[in-house]
Amino acid sequence: MTTTLDLLLWAVLPYVTLAVLVGGTVWRYRHDRFGWTTRSSQLHESRLLRFGNPLFHFGLFLVLGGHVAGLLVPASVTRWLGVHDEVYHLSALIAGGLAGTAALVGLAVLLYRRLRTPAVRAATTRDDRLTYPLLAATLLLGMTATVLANGVGGGYDYRATVSPWVRGILLLQPDPLLMHDVPLPFRLHALMAMALFALWPFSRLVHAFSAPLGYLVRPYIVYRTRDDRLAARPPRPGWDEP
Ligand code: HEM
Repeated sequence: MTTTLDLLLWAVLPYVTLAVLVGGTVWRYRHDRFGWTTRSSQLHESRLLRFGNPLFHFGLFLVLGGHVAGLLVPASVTRWLGVHDEVYHLSALIAGGLAGTAALVGLAVLLYRRLRTPAVRAATTRDDRLTYPLLAATLLLGMTATVLANGVGGGYDYRATVSPWVRGILLLQPDPLLMHDVPLPFRLHALMAMALFALWPFSRLVHAFSAPLGYLVRPYIVYRTRDDRLAARPPRPGWDEP
């Protein structure tokens, strides 16, 4: 039976979160366009950043790719494609576990750097103090769900409960009963993720919405000297009369 708490947590809260995420992002874009930044601290310290930052981001990209496959693609589709449920769960466990570990180790390096480098610590803002613990808690609870429930616990078929719940929310047909008997780490993980989504527009995480993907395909910038004596080749006629 669906309780009032189920209704609040799994049918009302997701839409409140989505409203804050979308409304907050529009508000931030309109009122704080110059503050829309990663607030990079590379100038303060770059050795640890060079290692921790790609590890965290690439690990997280893989984790989020796994979430799209596991939460949005119905099990009936992977079965139809000939992927056995055991094969699916084993590969999700191994790939998700490795990607999650990379993201967690990367975040641990970034946190260590932030706490131990005085200049980076001084550049840490109030919203960072909420963002970093929430990120860490979401990642840790996700790993707990994967390793404890899915790994050593012998396996939990979240594609029969959590995944249809997520799709129901997105299709505006929420079914809170699906989450009633889900193991605690999964429920805490989903709640923590919702808290993170609600904080997103008010933190440095907004940079994810404006990642410079064009950099991957743009042509190189060509630098030319204006000093003819230093130029590698003789000047050619341009705007001036030859
Ligand atoms: C409401 C949104 C979310 C739901 C419903 C959800 C659900 C899940 C589920 C079912 C798993 C287990 C996957 C498996 O064992 O194969 C998982 C794992 C995990 N989640 Fe989430 N998740 C959400 C958001 C997030 C976010 C925002 C992050 C990161 C910031 C995240 C990070 C992780 C990590 C690191 C793991 C363990 C590694 C992996 O299996 O990919 N999750 N999540």
